[in-house]
Amino acid sequence: MTDPGLFSAPQTPPPGCPAHADAVRLGGLEYQQTPSQMYRALRRDHGAVAPVLLDGDIPAWLVLGYHEVAQVTSHDELFARDSRRWNQWDNIPPDWPLMPFVGYQPSVLFTEGEEHRRRAGVITEALSGVDQFELARDCELIADELIARFAGSGQAELMTSYAHALPMRAVVQMCGMPISGADTQQLVDDLRISLDAAEGDDPVAAYGRVGERLVRLVQDKRADPGKDVTSRMVLHPAGLSDEEIVQDLISVIAAAQQPTANWICNALRLLLTDERFELSVSGGRVSVGEALNEVLWLDTPTQNFIGRWAVRDTQLGGRQIRAGDCLVLGLAAANTDPGLWPEGHVGAENAAHLSFSNGEHRCPYPAPLLADVMARTAVETLLERLPDLVLAVDPRTLTWRSSIWMRGLTTLPVRFTPVDG
Ligand code: HEM
Repeated sequence: MTDPGLFSAPQTPPPGCPAHADAVRLGGLEYQQTPSQMYRALRRDHGAVAPVLLDGDIPAWLVLGYHEVAQVTSHDELFARDSRRWNQWDNIPPDWPLMPFVGYQPSVLFTEGEEHRRRAGVITEALSGVDQFELARDCELIADELIARFAGSGQAELMTSYAHALPMRAVVQMCGMPISGADTQQLVDDLRISLDAAEGDDPVAAYGRVGERLVRLVQDKRADPGKDVTSRMVLHPAGLSDEEIVQDLISVIAAAQQPTANWICNALRLLLTDERFELSVSGGRVSVGEALNEVLWLDTPTQNFIGRWAVRDTQLGGRQIRAGDCLVLGLAAANTDPGLWPEGHVGAENAAHLSFSNGEHRCPYPAPLLADVMARTAVETLLERLPDLVLAVDPRTLTWRSSIWMRGLTTLPVRFTPVDG
């Protein structure tokens, strides 16, 4: 099948189209390599809110403007999270590729109003109990174990063997799984398959096993609570049921693992390819923080997030939005909005980016801080243990994943002087 390309116009306007005759298909190889150019072109041609087509030519709005994303995310009464109000369901096949992200589930992600405050409140309090120093120490131990597996060979592919593995192990452990052992490894493997299936994997079966294992985890913590996220959710006075806790644990693990992994990888890419970040053991630490922040502005992991659904007819960025329309939060585009950076230069000095979104459903405090501990420890430990680490390929040959949702590399091959384990 040929790739739909950057600006391929649809043959006919999609059914129920909200002014989508000139809509742009999201995706394509060019998009994959240089999404910022696509956002610029979209903004030039369509303004802050662009009509787009998702997989299968399903119409949606891509919100590109910083103020418009802030407006959507801070007005839940107009732009809400429950996807069941989508006016396109009649056109969406059951095996639609985006179904795992938009198909309604009774988790914190799709709840609204008072119910959302109850569920998100439990998560916030459970995450607030995580000791950030302990988390850093655990991440360092996990990092050392992962590095030991490839340190003697002098080369590694960091995406699989490090960037994805570390936050997955750290989050599963944070939720109260044993630090190691076949049982934890099985859960980590099944989560990896459910969230990011490779060819030959069976994500549905893996997702089923994840659910079963988390049911057992919740039951174990009810019987014998410990100092972990699951136990704090079980003990919380809001009185969540086992089913609610399992749903929300899956949401927490999925929401934590993929973006943190890509944050690690995108920061490593920047550190290894940009001469402004030339590494030395002594200079490394300062640069790591800067690289992590710059990535959130310029190569943010959750580049687009689906989404919000209009509660009633309304206006946004000069567009007429119909009740039930889907809005994709263009977080990467919003971060580089020329209205914010009139000089063209995107400064990375502060944290006013929208990478963790905004409003009621934003990445819940203190999740961004925990992500920072994981990412910073992952990058710093790697650079400390393998100080002469360099890219093993020409930087221009690195390829980005074809996803319009998650920004990350397909592989990050490196080499270094072998170190004895
Ligand atoms: C680089 C790392 C991370 C990024 C870029 C990120 C970004 C995001 C974004 C964009 C959302 C969607 C917000 C919305 O709907 O408006 C979100 C939601 C969420 N994130 Fe994060 N996140 C990260 C790490 C984490 C971590 C480490 C955790 C947990 C330990 C976490 C837990 C959650 C949860 C539970 C939600 C759902 C909130 C809700 O719907 O109420 N995230 N995150």
